[in-house]
Formats: sequence, structure tokens, C-alpha cells
Amino acid sequence: MKKIEITLDTYDALASLNDSDQGLVRAAIQRLGSGHAPYSNFHVSAACRTEDGQIWIGTNQENASFPVGICAERVALSVANMQAPGQSVLEMAIVYRDPSHRHHEPLAPCGMCRQALSEQSQRQNSPVRLLLANEKGATWVCADANALLPLSFSLKDL
Ligand code: THU
Repeated sequence: MKKIEITLDTYDALASLNDSDQGLVRAAIQRLGSGHAPYSNFHVSAACRTEDGQIWIGTNQENASFPVGICAERVALSVANMQAPGQSVLEMAIVYRDPSHRHHEPLAPCGMCRQALSEQSQRQNSPVRLLLANEKGATWVCADANALLPLSFSLKDL
């Protein structure tokens, strides 16, 4: 038998996080709404910190041809990899603005973004830590994004 479990640290308020984590979540919140989401109205912002301490932001970019759209997380990873080549992505804060106000808890990245995060950690040989947050400050911390994509397919399988 194989049993897979994940552990998340949960916080109710931004103030409960350390300064560094608060800074990353605030950086993501600051750019929330500046993406291009006229079709879903669902805005997502991701802020990642590279090992040199710089913060790179991505927001979701939708397209009238829907599959062309890209999620905030993959935009952020692309920006970081392009602007800070060779720097590991230590962590990423992800926040969303839900127009329906249905969600009270943080949301986790979609499957495609989990795959991209998994590849990121493989290419840098170290985990990407996730801070999943909402605008009110509720935050779930996942020490390794790979925990959200168990049994993943990767370069080692090719
Ligand atoms: N979205 C993200 O940016 N990240 C995710 O992990 C889930 C979904 C975006 C894509 C689309 O622009 C909108 O949210 C609704 O799916």
C-alpha cells in the first residue's frame, strides 16, 4: 500500500506570518487586479522570491481564445527565470480575488501550474515553498510545492 499525505501550516491573519513571508504575500496582493482577466473576472497574482532576494510578480493573462490564457504562477516563474537566470526560486505567494466572494480560504494552484512548479524544483534541485493566501490574510504554507503533485511525471521518466 502507498499512502500519501500533505501537511500545510495554516494561519488566520497575515500578522501571524514572519516579516519575510508577509512581505511576499503583500507584494502579490499589491498587484492583484493588474492582470488581464476580462473573461473570468477572477484575478490571481503570484510573487516569487529568488535566492538573491529579489521578488518577481506574475498575474493571470487571459485571451479571447481561452486556452491561450496563462496563469499567474507560470507568468511569475517565467519572469523570474528570465530576469534572474540561474537563481533558484525559493518561494512563491499566490493570492486571488474572487468576484463571487464564495471562497473564504486560500486556493491552491491548478494542475498545470503544479507541474510547472515541479519542473522548477527539479531544475534547481531544491523545493519551492508556497504561501497560499487570500486578501484577508488567511494563509496556508506548503514547504514544498511537490507535495501538491504526488507521483508527478518529470524528466526522470523520459
Ligand atoms: N488561474 C491562475 O492564474 N492560477 C491558478 O492556479 C488557477 C487559475 C487563473 C486562470 C484564469 O485566468 C482564471 O484564474 C480563472 O481560471
